[in-house]
Formats: sequence, structure tokens, C-alpha cells
Amino acid sequence: MTTEPRGPLHPQTTSVSEGFDPRLSVMAVRPPIYPVSTYAFPSAEQAAHYFEVALGKVQRGPGEDVGLIYARLNNPNAEMFEDALASVEKGAHAAAVFSSGMSAITTSLLTLAKPGQKILYERPVYGGTDHFFRHMLPDLQLSAIAVENSAWDDALRAHGADLALAYVETPANPTLRMIDLAALRERLDRIVPDRRVPLVVDNTFLGPVFQSPLRHGADLALYSATKFLGGHSDLVAGALTATDPALVAKIKGTRAFLGTICEPFTAWLLQKSMATLWLRMIKQSKNASHLVKTIKAHPAVETVHYPTLFVGDQARIFQQQCTAPGSMIAVELRGGRAAAFRFLNALKLVRLAVSLGGVESLACHPRSTTASGDEARRICEPEASPRASCG
Ligand SMILES: Cc1ncc(COP(=O)(O)O)c(C=O)c1O
Repeated sequence: MTTEPRGPLHPQTTSVSEGFDPRLSVMAVRPPIYPVSTYAFPSAEQAAHYFEVALGKVQRGPGEDVGLIYARLNNPNAEMFEDALASVEKGAHAAAVFSSGMSAITTSLLTLAKPGQKILYERPVYGGTDHFFRHMLPDLQLSAIAVENSAWDDALRAHGADLALAYVETPANPTLRMIDLAALRERLDRIVPDRRVPLVVDNTFLGPVFQSPLRHGADLALYSATKFLGGHSDLVAGALTATDPALVAKIKGTRAFLGTICEPFTAWLLQKSMATLWLRMIKQSKNASHLVKTIKAHPAVETVHYPTLFVGDQARIFQQQCTAPGSMIAVELRGGRAAAFRFLNALKLVRLAVSLGGVESLACHPRSTTASGDEARRICEPEASPRASCG
């Protein structure tokens, strides 16, 4: 769905109404929900043409609006949200929406990587992503190789020849460790000069509001839209943005056959949430920055991980790459796992739950929940330093 061309607008403005044209919806001022599985074709010839375009056999003509086919391929609410998201992500020319953050990740990776190829990724990453890399990709003859302590040069020299993509999460769940994306892009281009190795970045923690991976050399920015994009802990969804619309079209092709598109009602909820994304994330970041000072001063606290407290290289990356610290806080308590559990069990206002990015505050112990896989354990936390994360 396209709207009339106009001058450049601030993302805070486009997030409210981009992608929605009231003339296509009886002049409703906000998008209606289209709970529809299939769409009528104007003629048999048009039906054939729509399929040829959808299967990539024929290119869409300039300005041609090809009609909808079937909701597993596309639906108006998904399209409207995608247009809104692409309009707010700096450097993006296209977006795609999925049934979950994990399906955004898996659908993208299965499009970009072929059997026999390798994926390099830096730990830590979200536990579900780590599980997919280590336990599921090998069955598809794909090896995901972890890069330890940013040792990308050696890893690229060893595996560059059959490398499908590089994958990072920054800030990472749950440690908030940051990756210098521009430096990684430079390494990829220098050490594997014969082609552009796709750099895929999970930008869930800072979102398009505080970090723009595509402007720092990433090819895909991935989101668990369940978190800040959705923003109310009332949906599960995923999304991606990219500089190259052809790449997004390819991933949408995989999405159609895996059936990982976001259904209309959830896409509608997501679009509704876009209108308050800036307000929510800015306020949440301010609240967290304030809270961190109190947490840090508490005698029970060993260490607080939060971007404004970073030192050295991590502080440099934060200054260079992000516009605000966001609202994720990782805390290491004195007294081990027992102390962490006592803290969590004593919470009154903050809910003990996994996930993040909603309007309520949540806290969990990643080591025994979201990052409880063996490898995630080893990387995220030594036995002596249990951590509680607050979102
Ligand atoms: C950083 C990150 N990426 C991806 C995911 C997976 O998203 P979803 O739960 O929407 O599938 C999560 C979930 O917590 C996450 O924290």
C-alpha cells in the first residue's frame, strides 16, 4: 500500500501514519483489521500475473500495484506495519514482519545460508538464537561458529571462503555487551574482499529509536517485535529491515513457504504500537538511567551493566553507535544464585517474568531461564556471579 509522495518527515511523525491510506479503507482515520485469508482477483489473467510476480518470474511494472493473493504470502495489516517500520529505520528501504522474533531470525538465516556454508556469530546472543545455531543448523549441514572475544580477524581468515553471513546481537542479551558494527563491516570487507558478506544484527534491545545498524554497515536489522516494537507484552512477533529491497523480497519468498508471516490482528497491534514507540522508549530509557544510580549504590550489588556505566572500548562503542542507553539493566548481586533468587522473590511492583520492552517492569535470572543452555551458561556467567536482568 503506498501513500502520496512528500518531503522527508521525522520518524516520530511517520511512525504514526506511514503505510496507511484512508482512501483504501472508507476514509477511516486509523487502519482497520483485515481478518481475511484470501483475496479475489479481478480476472483470471490478473490472477496469473499476480502469481508470476509473487514467484519472481515477472518483475512488477514501475508504480504497478499488484493485488493481494493469500494471507500467508501477504496481508494488508502486515504491509502497513512494514511500510511504517521501514520509514522509521534509518537507511532502510524495505521491511518484513514475522510471527515471532525467532521466525524472523530463522527465516532470514535459512534464506541467506545454504548447506555446506558457515555462519560466524559473536556470543552472547539470545538463548533461543544460540540453541538454533548450535542444535538445529548442524542438521541442515550448516555450521554456526562462535567468535570468542571479538577475534573476528582470525575467524574470517579461517572461514571466509565459505561464509554465508556474520551474525551479532548488540547490545547482547543478557550481558548488554556491544559490538562495533562499523569496525566489523570494515573487517568483513577487508578480509573477504571478493563479495559483500551479509552482516545481520539483532537490534531488539535498542530498536530503531536508539541504534541504526543499517547506517553502520549492517545488511539486515532484526527484531523480536514482541519487545519494544509491540511494547505492551500482548503479542509475539518479529521484524526485519534492510537496505536492499531485493534481499527483503527473497526473505519474504522463504516466509511464504515456511508460513512465518505475522497474522493480521498482531500486525494491526504492532502498527498501533508504532505511534508510541518513541515516547515509550525515550521515557523507559530515562527511567532506567535514573534507577541505575540507586541500584549501583546498593551494598548488595556487585556490578551493574548499563551503557552509561561502560568503560574503555565498550564505552567508546556506546558513544559512537547509540543515541541513548535504553532500558535494559543487568545486575550482579553479592551472594550468588541464592541472593539473586531472594531478590527476585521479594519484588513487589516488578514482575518476575522473561521478556522485556513492555510498559511494565520485569526481572528474571537469565542463567536459570532464558540463557540456561550449557554454552550460554559458560559465556554469560561464571558460577560466582549470578545476574538479574530488568527490562
Ligand atoms: C534479543 C532477542 N532476540 C530474539 C528474541 C526472540 O524473540 P521472540 O521471543 O519474539 O521469538 C528474543 C527473545 O527474548 C530476544 O531477547
